[in-house]
Amino acid sequence: MSATSSTRNRRISISDLAAMTERGEKWSMITCYEAMTASIFDETGVPVLLVGDSAGNNFLGEENTIPVTIDEMVFLSRAVVRGSKNAMVVADLPFGSYEKSAKLALTSATRLFKEAKVQAVKLEGGKKVVPQIKKLIDAGIPVMGHLGLTPQSVHALGGYKVQGRGQDATRIIKDAQALEGAGVFALVLELVPAELAEEISNLLKIPVIGIGAGPDCDAQVIVWTDLMGITVNPPKFAKAYRNLRAEMTKGVSEWVSDVSVGVFPSEDQTFH
Ligand code: KIV
Repeated sequence: MSATSSTRNRRISISDLAAMTERGEKWSMITCYEAMTASIFDETGVPVLLVGDSAGNNFLGEENTIPVTIDEMVFLSRAVVRGSKNAMVVADLPFGSYEKSAKLALTSATRLFKEAKVQAVKLEGGKKVVPQIKKLIDAGIPVMGHLGLTPQSVHALGGYKVQGRGQDATRIIKDAQALEGAGVFALVLELVPAELAEEISNLLKIPVIGIGAGPDCDAQVIVWTDLMGITVNPPKFAKAYRNLRAEMTKGVSEWVSDVSVGVFPSEDQTFH
């Protein structure tokens, strides 16, 4: 029986994810930023909801993830936890909330743990964030790593470009091993060549979650507004399974028009 079965009445744990990967089951993680979509996604049985700092671009109207604050992440994560029952909720540590020291990382992650009640946190970077990862794990906070295109470093990387081509592959492999050694329970690989992602997935025991990293990762993550066709100019690696932007535009336009000609509200929506 799959760990995503509706017969389970507790949240997915890091052991469930490890067991799914061990059994060769490919699993999925979807971003989520508030309670309404959390409840919809949770009903599908998707095992992990990621309160990504991609909320910056996809929810808060920012240009990228950099301006997102820990206060905003706590606020959004709390809503996602409230809206879901079965999925594990993982929240991003935003830019500026962990790089300076392991102590700061613990302070920030503790807020997400206590105030939002998430079950794990994610942070970006390789060897240089190993002290932060160890500190969080020592405190009992499960940590997910994130390598390849790390959006918080978009300016340093010179844009949203594929990482780990040629010689650079070795650096990412070494970072991946360092993160596994530090104890992360899973690793996101973003925008790297499929061959490198496959190599790292085979090399590591922990689940490797791909986004723009080809088909051979243990799991896949997607930004929900890309999946549902809401994002304008979505990245090449995303596939829109629906066109909600068109549907929502149509629905709102019909309502505005009905209001203007006095057809809404009708007798059905009226009290006497
Ligand atoms: O913030 C986010 O949504 C992410 C995913 C793209 C992995 O980090």
